[in-house]
Formats: sequence, C-alpha cells, structure tokens
Amino acid sequence: MAWIILWFIILILGDIQRGMSQITSVNISQEFERWMIEHERTYPNNSEKERRFGIFRTRFESIKLFNMQQEGKTSTFKKGINMFSDMTAEEFLSIYASCHDDDPSKYISSFGVDSTYFAEDDYADIPPVSIDWRDEKLVTPVKNQGHCGSCWAFAAVAAVEGSMAWNYGINTSLSEQQILDCSGNADGCKGGSTQAAFDYVIRNGGLNSEANYGYVAKQGTCDSSKTDQHLGQITGYRKVPPNEYDLAKAVAWQPIPVVISVGAGFQEYQGGILRGGCAYNPYKHKHAVLIVGYGRTEDYHEDYWIVKNSWGEGWGEKGYVRMYKGVNLCNIADNAISPLNTYDVEWRKTITRNRRPVG
Ligand SMILES: *[C@@H]1O[C@H](CO)[C@@H](O)[C@H](O)[C@H]1NC(C)=O
Ligand SMILES: *[C@@H]1O[C@H](CO)[C@@H](O)[C@H](O)[C@H]1NC(C)=O
Ligand SMILES: *[C@@H]1O[C@H](CO)[C@@H](O)[C@H](O)[C@H]1NC(C)=O
Repeated sequence: MAWIILWFIILILGDIQRGMSQITSVNISQEFERWMIEHERTYPNNSEKERRFGIFRTRFESIKLFNMQQEGKTSTFKKGINMFSDMTAEEFLSIYASCHDDDPSKYISSFGVDSTYFAEDDYADIPPVSIDWRDEKLVTPVKNQGHCGSCWAFAAVAAVEGSMAWNYGINTSLSEQQILDCSGNADGCKGGSTQAAFDYVIRNGGLNSEANYGYVAKQGTCDSSKTDQHLGQITGYRKVPPNEYDLAKAVAWQPIPVVISVGAGFQEYQGGILRGGCAYNPYKHKHAVLIVGYGRTEDYHEDYWIVKNSWGEGWGEKGYVRMYKGVNLCNIADNAISPLNTYDVEWRKTITRNRRPVG
C-alpha cells in the first residue's frame, strides 16, 4: 500500500517539475514588458514596477502550471493572463467585485413599479434545452466598465437593450453614463443596484444612446440636454423566483440581469465552464451581469449559463463566461430581474409556446 502512495507522489512531483522547467524556459520579464504594452500599463516608479512584476510572475507561473495539470482531465476550465494580472486578489475584488450594492440609501426608491415575483403563467411551461440570444441578435457587443464599479448600470442597460431588440427590433447600444450621472446614486463608481437603474429608466421615460451620451468611466453631473431623447425604454420589471428552473424560463423569454458573488476565480478566468471561484463572502463581493442564454457541452454534458460581462472583450471567452448551471453557482439565481416592455405584456397574454417566437 505504502509503495503505491509513494509511487503516486513521485508521479505528481515529476509532473510539477516538468511543468516548472517548461515555465522557467520562458523569459517572464520579457512577457511582462509585452503585457505592459498590450494593456497600456505604466507605473509611477521603478519600485512600483518591480512590485507589479512580482505579482505578475507569480500569476504567470501558477496559471501555466494549472493549465498544464488540466490537460487530459474532464474539465474545459482554463485560466489565463489578462488585464487583471498585475493586481492582487484584494485589489481586484475591491474594484471589480464590489459594484452591486442593494443599500436602499443608495437609490431613490421606485414609484409603484411592479417588483413582485413573476407569476407562473407569465412564462413558458418548460424552458427549451438551450438558448443563445446572441444568435438572434438581441445582444450588443461586450462593453468595458473600466476602473469604475458601475457594473450595475451595465447590467441594467444590457437588459434594456435586449428588451428593446425583442419588443421593437431595435438594437441600439444605450447609455450607461446617463444612468451613472443622472440616477441619483451619490457614488456610482462605488456600486449601485440594477433595480435602481431600472427605476431611473422608467422614471425618465427612457435612455439615450451610447453614441449620444458616451461612457467615461467616472461619475459626472447629469447632462440634462441629453436626457429627453429616449432611444430605449422599459415600462416595469418583475423579480424572478430565486431558483434556476424559473431563471431558465425567464431567460427563455429574454436576456436577464442577475447578481453573482465574485471571487478570485473570476480574476484569471479565460475559458470553459466555471465551476467555482465565487466570493467567500457572498454579501460583500457582488457583481451584476447579464445572462444571455444557457446550454450543455457536448463532450462532458455540463450544463452552463452564458453570461455577458462588462470587462471588455479581452476577458474570458471574448467577454463572456460560461458558469456551471444546476448548483446555484455564485448565487446566480438569487437576485434576477425580468424587465417588462409594452409588448411583453401583450405577448404574455397570447403566447402559449415554450418561448417567445423569433423574428
Ligand atoms: C529576459 O528579458 C529581459 C528584458 O526583456 C532581459 O533584460 C534579460 O536579459 C532576459 N533574460 C534572459 C535569461 O534571457
Ligand atoms: C512609487 O509609487 C508607489 C505607487 O504610486 C508609491 O506608493 C511609492 O511611494 C513610490 N515610491 C517611490 C520611491 O517614489
Ligand atoms: C445591430 O444589428 C446589425 C445587423 O444585425 C449589426 O450589424 C449591428 O452591429 C447591431 N448593432 C448593435 C449595437 O448591436
């Protein structure tokens, strides 16, 4: 028995050693210089650059080793170097995973908006096996919130865009900056709530376009000369019951904004099905994103959600992450909201199919 264990230890050690020798043959300092150019990163002085290089090197080595160990395993999950590779986990979490905040003092409350859970008969009986709203052109290109905790505005706008595409066939990219400047959130780059963003859209009667009211990644004064132009709107919203089956039904209807608890697993995510890496403290590190579909992998039959993020196309799978479906990963089903538009209400009365008709 003992020799079997010893044999395994030797095998594993050999594996790690082979991995390390492959890594050390790479000039990481050269990689870092290349990475700085690619991500337009500069540092105020040499000691800061050394410190950042230290973080980068540790990540570089651990990512390469991790991916090497994954080879041949029944998992598609991959880590990678990206724009977050010179940041500590604490820095990453404090900026990018603390942008959703339900603190009621942070938003002006709604005015009779229907925020009750949706009724059973609002939606299809059985959600289809898979759906990807990107194929139906309901989803605008991936955006980048930059160095600002404004995910709540991005998730809300992405949901309004999806609702506009469904209801009116309009796929205009809409303005997050308008929500950031005008919704009444005192410090929108330190977090806010998707629901508060929806309240603003309804109160204002709509949103201007991204082209007319562009994003600058910091909060400014509301440009009231631009708020009268309404190129996208919703008329209300409903909460989705907090379970993945009802969430699938809601997603079968249209893209749905959700709140996930983000942990270190997201910092290095490059592709495949994410199965962990959520926040240790789900109440602290909340991030708002948009679910644009779900499916199942052909090789290992893993169910997943297709999630649109707002960290640019350089992160994950061209800006998207596929998250394992079926275990309420990162509390994905706990805080989902379904936007309503004029036609939704009419359609819901008449349609008895498993999902909305396309086209
Ligand atoms: C690695 O690259 C750096 C700068 O890009 C260079 O100064 C250094 O000599 C290289 N080291 C090796 C071992 O090639
Ligand atoms: C270098 O920059 C860092 C980060 O801005 C700062 O904290 C540090 O004091 C600077 N060090 C020197 C020697 O100027
Ligand atoms: C809208 O749809 C057209 C045609 O499919 C596409 O070319 C365009 O990129 C889309 N615009 C946005 C903002 O998604």
